[in-house]
Amino acid sequence: MKFISGFSILALLMSPPLMSQSPKALPFLRTQGEAMQLIVDHKPVLLLSGEWGNSSAADGVYMRPIWPKLKDLHLNSALVPVYWELVEPTEGHFDFTLVDSLVHSARRYDLKLVLLWFGSWKNSMSCYVPLWVKADQRRFPRSRTRSGEAVEILTPFSDANLQADARAFAALMRHIKKIDARAQTVLMVQVENEIGMIPEARDHVPEAETAYAAPVPAELMSYLQKNKATLRPEFVQMWEKTGYKAKGNWEEVFGAGVHTEELFMAWHFARYTNAVTQAGKAEYALPMFVNAALIRPGYRPGQYPSAGPLPHLMDVWRAGAPQIDFLTPDIYFRNFAEWCQKYDHPGNAFFIPEVDSRQSPANAFYAMAQHDAMGYSPFAIESLENPGKRLLAQAYEVLHQMTPVILANQGSGNLVGVLLDSAAQQSRFELGDYIFTVKHEYSWPYAQKKEGEVPRHGGMFIKLAEDEFYMAGTGLVVTFAARQGAGARAGIGSVDEGKFVEGTWRPGRRLNGDQTHQGRHAHLPGHEFGILRVKLYTYR
Ligand code: DGJ
Repeated sequence: MKFISGFSILALLMSPPLMSQSPKALPFLRTQGEAMQLIVDHKPVLLLSGEWGNSSAADGVYMRPIWPKLKDLHLNSALVPVYWELVEPTEGHFDFTLVDSLVHSARRYDLKLVLLWFGSWKNSMSCYVPLWVKADQRRFPRSRTRSGEAVEILTPFSDANLQADARAFAALMRHIKKIDARAQTVLMVQVENEIGMIPEARDHVPEAETAYAAPVPAELMSYLQKNKATLRPEFVQMWEKTGYKAKGNWEEVFGAGVHTEELFMAWHFARYTNAVTQAGKAEYALPMFVNAALIRPGYRPGQYPSAGPLPHLMDVWRAGAPQIDFLTPDIYFRNFAEWCQKYDHPGNAFFIPEVDSRQSPANAFYAMAQHDAMGYSPFAIESLENPGKRLLAQAYEVLHQMTPVILANQGSGNLVGVLLDSAAQQSRFELGDYIFTVKHEYSWPYAQKKEGEVPRHGGMFIKLAEDEFYMAGTGLVVTFAARQGAGARAGIGSVDEGKFVEGTWRPGRRLNGDQTHQGRHAHLPGHEFGILRVKLYTYR
């Protein structure tokens, strides 16, 4: 028998309360196969989210009716702004009343939060900096155009600007730690919002002019050399023009032109944002990310917000902002799948903090399956009206049921996402022993069609076994072929509709006859989101 000293007995007796006070591990990102997942309290999570309109978190009373709406939509989390101007209305005096109200209400409604730090930059502009910063341009200088005109954008070439933002952000994170380290209602933070220079590709304050003529910083050059084999092709295209020059000023290394001005600016935005992020993480190290306003076709840097965390600048942002955990797209354009493709990049956790709420929530199924997205978040969620509201609620309800099976399969090759509309009406892929042909419902003569544009439909396919699959989504007609065996044909063994109850599949109707076109296909109708479990077999 082991001897237990008096001290050890005391320690044992004391250990439960002491243990319960020990801090929980913070949310963090973990790789699973090809996927990166957000881990909260030891478990991966999918964020079925929505971002609030810009001014909706600026008054406690205004916020109140929003919370139940989020529950009706089956959200499990929300992206909410925190405004520098209201957090630090006078220098050094912080007011976290609104932040407290957000956190407490979220808990009451069993929702998690992602905070958006509207600090130095919001959609390029500096409209959210406090008036004491806005009004003192000698101390807190503005960016300038080539002709010397000031714009309402804090220059990143000012240490005073950086220190003021970093101090406020650090105070915010200190406060979040104080009120939330145990409950962990706040999971992540977006630092700034849609950073980017307008109306020109770069800043022209005197410090910027000096930096532009100086050698490209050694940190950037050595990152590029070290990671040469894995740099983004869009970036390589710019650098190869000078024969991968390794030394010199910006134009010597990357050539003269607006693309180099954008690279230069991206480096300086990244350095500044990195320092703000570092100050926040020193207080409370939640995962932190930045978001990008994407490029409108045909626009040049400066016409679109230049130098944000865009795909062709990903390497510069990674080199300049190692404290930022991942880079994200705000997808308002119709070519949703293309932008997913660009941001689903090795080493970059994929999350969509903003998407046009008028787009079909079929997008979410596609992104979570095909690109292992860890979350999806339509913008101005509280203003969503029917029929979008009804569809999103249904889509999120289905995704909520499927969360365990999605998370278990992300990164494994067992998940396929499909998105169809007038531009892409068919998709073909192999999964298990079968070849799937997925068509837009409108290709089937008996489908119910609405007047006007072909609606976007889509969904996800999950391999359970070589001959058994879940299909979930909306508006898809699926036929099957056998992958192997000369002359073998695929047949439908069974199609069940159903749902998951606490992670366990509960079949509903066995679908057959007209519902499978007499055994020819599986069909997810376009007026709703649903789940099917399909078993296939082969015959000759
Ligand atoms: C993208 C921004 O990030 C949001 O804050 C908001 O301004 C929307 N655009 C408006 O469409």
